[in-house]
Amino acid sequence: MTVDIAAIAALAPVIPVLTLENRDSAVPLARALVRGGLPVLEVTLRTEAALDALRAIAREVPEAIVGAGTVLNPEQLERAQRAGARFAVSPGCTCELARAARASGLPFLPGVQTVSEAMTLAEQGFGLLKFFPADAAGGLTWLKAVGAPLADLRFCPTGGITPETAPAYLALANVACVGGSWVAPRGAVATGDWQSVERLAATASTLKRR
Ligand code: 3PG
Repeated sequence: MTVDIAAIAALAPVIPVLTLENRDSAVPLARALVRGGLPVLEVTLRTEAALDALRAIAREVPEAIVGAGTVLNPEQLERAQRAGARFAVSPGCTCELARAARASGLPFLPGVQTVSEAMTLAEQGFGLLKFFPADAAGGLTWLKAVGAPLADLRFCPTGGITPETAPAYLALANVACVGGSWVAPRGAVATGDWQSVERLAATASTLKRR
């Protein structure tokens, strides 16, 4: 079943960005995040364990909507889809990747950093875009500045967002949700401190959106 990426983004104000070194932490981590109220999870394809971790979450945590992040090319997109990804996220985009994503039917959140990139993807039918790396690329100032000229587009800013800055991003009319790794700190994941993860997720899940 294909669900629109906007419908997935609407499920929670924060998408945890998970970079997992160890497949064994994937399922308890996903369960803690879901218990805390964050069901949409992005597993970045940056580690050897990533696809196994994604597969395990897809199989064993049906309450989670798990997607693949850092998808750079059509081959990775296909591997992620085969592993059970329900959506895909890329830090930037190429025509080839956008074409493959449309052909796959997988909900896709392509990354942009400039107005021209956003316009190119809008032309191809993408209405929700990842703004990456949000903090480094202009953050709130950029998002406010493009609100009027790119009035039909909405964004999921990701990269450098913290619990302190997330509320200001979520208060913007053109922000659908934010992505961030702060809800799954490396130390907590390494030590299996799932209570801390659940607490961080619970706080993040109550953040208000415009
Ligand atoms: C990433 O791709 O690493 C994400 O943007 C997460 O960024 P963060 O670690 O700054 O939240």
